[in-house]
Amino acid sequence: MQAGIESISIYTSQYYLDLKALANQSGEDPNKYYIGIGQQRMSVPPPDEDVVTLAANATAQALQGIDTTALDTFLFATETGIDQSKAAGIYVHELVRLPKNMRVFELKQACYSGAGGLSMAVPYLLHHPDRKVLIVAADVARYGIGSIGEPTQGAGAVAMVLSTNPTIMTFDLESGLYTNDVMDFWRPNYADEALVDGKYSIKMYITALREAWQQYTGITGRPFGDFHRFVYHLPFTKMADKAHQFLVRHANAELNQEEWQRQIDDAAIYQRFIGNTYAGSVFVALTSLLDNSQEDLAGKRIGLFSYGSGSVGEFFSGIVQQGYKAYLKKALHHEIIAGRAELDYETYREFYTFKSRLPTDGAVMQTPKYNAGRYRFAGLADHKRLYEVVV
Ligand code: HMG
Repeated sequence: MQAGIESISIYTSQYYLDLKALANQSGEDPNKYYIGIGQQRMSVPPPDEDVVTLAANATAQALQGIDTTALDTFLFATETGIDQSKAAGIYVHELVRLPKNMRVFELKQACYSGAGGLSMAVPYLLHHPDRKVLIVAADVARYGIGSIGEPTQGAGAVAMVLSTNPTIMTFDLESGLYTNDVMDFWRPNYADEALVDGKYSIKMYITALREAWQQYTGITGRPFGDFHRFVYHLPFTKMADKAHQFLVRHANAELNQEEWQRQIDDAAIYQRFIGNTYAGSVFVALTSLLDNSQEDLAGKRIGLFSYGSGSVGEFFSGIVQQGYKAYLKKALHHEIIAGRAELDYETYREFYTFKSRLPTDGAVMQTPKYNAGRYRFAGLADHKRLYEVVV
């Protein structure tokens, strides 16, 4: 028996900023963003969108055609929590009407926590083969107007139903792990924007990849050649080039640039237009690979690397299942990404700074209506966040 993905779907906010608009402001050459970091656009949430609405939209999509009575666990991975105590997943649970007899809680470790949830869910399912687990990873990446990280912002969610009926992909039980206490990226409780030591964070990512890969290959004995494609955590698409170039060299794999590039390119397609989705990123990349690969990946082993600053890295793997394409939501994902509205720079700033204008004294506030999909953050009253279903 094996466990893995029965359904997977992504969602992103319905507004974006093209990075040339940012380049016009910063005085940078747009090619620094388009080519240098490999990013074209970034999703920007409107005032009535947050991780709950992003997650609820992705969850509703992933649950289409799924029998939810078997769901007993919902893990919500985010570093954009909306409350210091209550799990954001409980709001999602109510919005998408999940069964009451289940557990819901939140996971945090920067961009790593979605992969952490997966590594707990797979053995759990093997012990409870009649159950299903929902993992949702949702984040809004914010670094601050004019900051070095600004072009690597983004927003989005990915929802996965895991079960012992893994029609899309199974996961191997072995993985390589690495934890190291470093300050490469963090967000103090009083801050809305992440602090980052950009170049150092790239070094720490590569260090974690090296150590996690070393442990993974030590445990499994699997050589580099066993992997058909590689899916990396993508803070920006060029990060996968840096990481994979390193791994190819480190593993003494004899591949030319065209060959190693082919192993990672399809996974980067969505990220280039959405931006960083932190905890969701590696699974948005996996969805991008599965949706966009022209090649039939059935039966192929995929290597995945998740990195969460601070830091935790995990190298893990899985096998794509026969007939997987019939279960993907490729057309929906393309429609969501292509259907977004472009923002001018002023509206981007307006959306961006809205968060700082939310009342903190318990006053009633209604958020202006934008397109936040089927669910919206309607406002605040008496220190409580209010959500509504858009009919
Ligand atoms: P920067 O200093 O703005 O950029 O920082 P740069 O000067 O290093 O330039 C970037 C690249 O563009 C360089 O290429 C330039 O040569 C090139 P590279 O040397 O890297 O190959 N370039 C150009 N190319 C073409 N035409 C041009 C041009 N000009 C320059 N005209 C940095 C970039 C990514 C560091 C910054 O945006 C940043 O700090 N971002 C946030 C941190 C980050 O994403 N770190 C990644 C690793 S940590 C991680 O992944 C975890 C994370 O997701 C958080 C979590 O765990 O929750 C971030």
